[in-house]
Amino acid sequence: MNSANVPSLGSILDTIPTAVIEFDHGSLVYANQAARRLFSLDRWDPDNPVAALGNAALVHALETTTTTGTLQEVTVEVHDSVVQCATSQVPGKAVVTLVATDITSVERVQAMRRDFVANASHELKTPVTGILALAESLELAMERDPVRAKQMVHRIRKEAVRLSQLVRELLDLNRIEEGERREGEGFDLRFICLDQVARIGTLAESLHVTVRADIPDPIIVVGSRENMKTIVSNLLTNAVKYNKPGGEVVITACRQPTRIEIVVRDTGLGIAEEHLDRIFERFYRVDQARSREAGGTGLGLSIVRHAVEQMGGTITVESALGQGTRFSVHIPVEGNDV
Ligand SMILES: Nc1ncnc2c1ncn2[C@@H]1O[C@H](COP(=O)(O)OP(=O)(O)OP(=O)(O)O)[C@@H](O)[C@H]1O
Ligand SMILES: [Mg+2]
Repeated sequence: MNSANVPSLGSILDTIPTAVIEFDHGSLVYANQAARRLFSLDRWDPDNPVAALGNAALVHALETTTTTGTLQEVTVEVHDSVVQCATSQVPGKAVVTLVATDITSVERVQAMRRDFVANASHELKTPVTGILALAESLELAMERDPVRAKQMVHRIRKEAVRLSQLVRELLDLNRIEEGERREGEGFDLRFICLDQVARIGTLAESLHVTVRADIPDPIIVVGSRENMKTIVSNLLTNAVKYNKPGGEVVITACRQPTRIEIVVRDTGLGIAEEHLDRIFERFYRVDQARSREAGGTGLGLSIVRHAVEQMGGTITVESALGQGTRFSVHIPVEGNDV
């Protein structure tokens, strides 16, 4: 290779996402692009670069390496980012390098996982504790009080249903996250909507809510049929559950030039403005008591959002408290044959 074509070390370092800074006798002599961005180097005082790092733990690590020549590792916060830093000395020289990696997104995912496990364990514990307590009382009541015993069996069954629903939702979530989908499969969205409307019939009737689909033509979609079923069934179930006697639910779907639109609207309880941002979070319920009574765990909409995003789409919600709610899903359909 012609040496004129060999890129300089500096230009190579500028292409990597890790920040690299070099200090010589306490003066900053080199910083790659990632370092300049991460530490806002343009605003640095060149006479006092180490102090200007602005983080006591990092400054201490640099000073320790400078005086002792030992490798130091610290994780610090720099301008809202979580940064993993290592400082080391070039052997036999007064040159110290700082290598820093932005691990903010990794940290965020880990925090979410920790939260999720804590929430899921709590949600699982409640029905399990209920079942255990009821089973113990049932043993005593069976001989002495058969009527009470029967009521207990009924409650055990209710708790077990909640438990199995929660486990099913966790599995749904897992399946979607794992990206287990059958790509390339063509299906009729209209059929799925009509099928789900029929399935919700008994629940809707018992709550005196009418449900109808307004989808005149078949809509052939290529993608994950399972994801689509999950989306439609969760939105319809919510629209029926959080409704009022005499209320109505309508699902429409249509094909637009570059996307498919699915709208589920209801004339139900509505959602207050301050909750709208949060309802897609896992385990978030607006009215804990009512949702729990309705068998809700607060996972449905987070599963819906996952499924929508996995198909490259978006979901939005509009609502008026006491009047009703409207969920709109948009899925891009480039490359789909009608
Ligand atoms: N159509 C709607 N009308 C009014 N409130 C709604 C509607 N859809 C959702 N919500 C509110 O948003 C919360 C979150 O909904 P989500 O579907 O995630 O959980 P859930 O229905 O409580 O439980 P799950 O779906 O896991 O059984 C619900 O508890 C409810 O308070
Ligand atoms: Mg729900």
